[in-house]
Amino acid sequence: MGRRVKKKKKTKVAKTLRVVIVGYGRVGGALARALKKARWSVSVLPRSQDSVRRAALAGVRLADHDDLRGAQLCLLAVPDAQVANAAELVLEDLSTQTPLVHLSGALTLAAFGRPVIESGRPLGSFHPLAAISDPSDSFAGHTASLAATNETLLKTLRVLATTLSMRTIEVPETGRAAYHAGAVLSAGLLVALADAAVASLQHAGLEREQSLQALLPLMRSALGGLATRGFSKGLTGPVARGDVAVVQAHLDALPAEVGSVYRLLSRRTLALMGESLPAETMLALKRILA
Ligand SMILES: NC(=O)c1ccc[n+]([C@@H]2O[C@H](COP(=O)([O-])OP(=O)(O)OC[C@H]3O[C@@H](n4cnc5c(N)ncnc54)[C@H](OP(=O)(O)O)[C@@H]3O)[C@@H](O)[C@H]2O)c1
Repeated sequence: MGRRVKKKKKTKVAKTLRVVIVGYGRVGGALARALKKARWSVSVLPRSQDSVRRAALAGVRLADHDDLRGAQLCLLAVPDAQVANAAELVLEDLSTQTPLVHLSGALTLAAFGRPVIESGRPLGSFHPLAAISDPSDSFAGHTASLAATNETLLKTLRVLATTLSMRTIEVPETGRAAYHAGAVLSAGLLVALADAAVASLQHAGLEREQSLQALLPLMRSALGGLATRGFSKGLTGPVARGDVAVVQAHLDALPAEVGSVYRLLSRRTLALMGESLPAETMLALKRILA
């Protein structure tokens, strides 16, 4: 009987790249940590001494001349208004082929400015649809919006997304502002909505922190319903039920500013309901929410 030849297990080797990240703030820090964990060659160019210290504490290397020369990707993790400046700062030190990529949701690729665009190198954007409020936050499970001046860079950005366990979408340059407004509505303005909800409970006499802790699971369950059942089937609340008296009582009870947020979002809910409520209920709700 012949010896059984053990089949060699094929292990998929993930592609790794040499990356320099300019800026060591929230997103720069989170990217550096995640890519280091994925065994990419990552080095950073922080600005302040404080950022240098935080990078050192996280065990992230500072970029030297060789890192810049050999970088296969340079990510600009700086505030939107600093993208052109930061790009110009590293332009001379990078190889002429190194792609420069910003992380902004609002900016188009024109934001790199004339000198950088005229350098002819590939330019791109990698916008994580994630609320990163600390470098320890993860990108996993989120979506990254990609844009690039050539297909090779687009492929590289897809590899970056896969390494960070992210999905990808592509945003047309002309729709950038509307796209980013949607992202802001889903993140920062969701926090502002939570503040309005907490203010309502405070108006009822409850403590602020206690109110937030009570409302956060409710907000999560509403998002869970949306994820599982979609917009109209995931909807709950008096507008969805067509409870005109309760909606009127809410409007009477709320402080003016919170009341206007409630009114606006209730009108949006009503639009989501379509024709599913009786015509007279729809009319009554429209009237009190106008
Ligand atoms: N935070 C998010 O949730 C999020 C999500 C998606 C996309 N983004 C995008 O990610 C980018 C960075 O945002 P962030 O939230 O990480 O901002 P951040 O926490 O304020 O960090 C920005 C970092 O840039 C550094 N910096 C500022 N000007 C610089 C310059 N001229 N050259 C080099 N470094 C400079 C600052 O350094 P020092 O602190 O050392 O002064 C700071 O650490 C922005 O384009 C933003 O739109 C953010």
